[in-house]
Amino acid sequence: MAKLRAAIKGIHAWAPEDVLTNQDLEKMVDTTDEWITTRTGIKERHILKGEGLGTSDMGVEAVKGLLKKTGTKPEEVDLLICATVTPDMQFPATANIISDKVGIKNAFSFDMNAACSTFIYALVTASKYVESGEYKKVIVVGGDKMSSITDYTDRATCVIFGDAAGAVLLEPTTEDVGIIDHRFYTDGSGRVHLHQKAGGSVKPASHATVDAREHFIYQEGQPVFKFAVTNMADVAVEIMQRNHLSSDDIDWLVPHQANLRIIEATARRMKLQKEKVMINIQRYGNTTNGTIPMCLYEWESQLKKGDNLVLAAFGGGFTWGAIYLKWAYDGKKQG
Ligand code: UT7
Repeated sequence: MAKLRAAIKGIHAWAPEDVLTNQDLEKMVDTTDEWITTRTGIKERHILKGEGLGTSDMGVEAVKGLLKKTGTKPEEVDLLICATVTPDMQFPATANIISDKVGIKNAFSFDMNAACSTFIYALVTASKYVESGEYKKVIVVGGDKMSSITDYTDRATCVIFGDAAGAVLLEPTTEDVGIIDHRFYTDGSGRVHLHQKAGGSVKPASHATVDAREHFIYQEGQPVFKFAVTNMADVAVEIMQRNHLSSDDIDWLVPHQANLRIIEATARRMKLQKEKVMINIQRYGNTTNGTIPMCLYEWESQLKKGDNLVLAAFGGGFTWGAIYLKWAYDGKKQG
């Protein structure tokens, strides 16, 4: 019997309307459009504004659109996983909140957190449920309201992050498409360079932690950059070699959008022309778990059945990895 694989059968994504430009940031902190553009490639990012709105609200928009365009009824969904570092609250899982808000009633759901790599980790986790044959319709949501943990007085981080969410539908297939291979890594010693100091069990929230601004992202940019630039490229090349893929065989690189220089270095190592690299960092910044689904969504109409895609990500922790998958449908047809 042909091996059961998990294939992405639909993608939808959503970013809030409000835009924060480099010019806006010039008025908030000591920075320039020139510095941000040359060091990161970012021009603007979208910010979720409004009392009481969180990551689940963006996830809901993405999932609603996904259900509609794939003709899926909420009650048909078997499992929903949400990849996020900015859950609505510590518990319950944002996945449960999304499911409740869109009427997904016959599924179980949970969150995953591996910083910026969570979406690709979650995609593979979901694929294993599908490959088991027991789960027919699995949704993976990737989204973050990074503005909720960004310190808008810290010029080194506030220029980078933005808000967005996307969702994919995975279904079983016996065709020669779907998720084929992955390589994932973790190095927990990297946590010192990128983390959120307070709000967890080691340092619960207190007046002192709020006063010390410890609920925001803490990032030492340079060590993170050095680790990211080497490891995201290494793992992307490794996935190519493991699957005997040359640069000509690859149709698209879908990289996590953390810094244009990291994306370009990865593409160079893979010997890919830039036309094959999905890049929208200039319009969204780093939306953490929203980056890869946002790219897939924006490029969907150009994707063809059988296209070879490499998804690659790097995140705090450190976590990093790459997926090799064959796209399962002609994007134009689904619209
Ligand atoms: O997705 C999660 C993983 N995260 C990443 O992959 C992020 C990786 N790191 C980076 O992308 C880059 O390190 C940053 C974009 C965060 C910073 O760029 P950099 O080229 O590494 O700059 P730097 O941190 O070495 O800082 C260079 C200078 C410093 O000034 P001095 O000490 O040379 O006088 C900073 O204070 O640039 C200064 N600087 C800024 N200047 C203007 C830092 N932020 C800004 C700013 N505007 N926004």
